[in-house]
Amino acid sequence: MTINGQVEAVFVVRQGPSVTAFVDRCPHVGAPLEMEPDHFLDLSKTEILCSLHGARFDPATGLCRLGPCKGRSLVAVPVSIEDGMVVAPE
Ligand code: FES
Repeated sequence: MTINGQVEAVFVVRQGPSVTAFVDRCPHVGAPLEMEPDHFLDLSKTEILCSLHGARFDPATGLCRLGPCKGRSLVAVPVSIEDGMVVAPE
């Protein structure tokens, strides 16, 4: 996805009826959060986990709850569900 003229990897978190999406870049040092292909959540599946230094983020808001970037947020991407599919703006 292109955001502000830059190509960014984006991931989607779906929890029940809720869906959120974020740029795959940690606000700490800009590393990708993805631990393994398509795995972004911790074992309890309640927080997004950064693969590099273990920061933990609220999957509803992207706010870092714990770690070196506590209080900073992931870049949110607006998404919606239309006809059962996750849709993002172009
Ligand atoms: S790069 Fe994510 S916590 Fe350091």
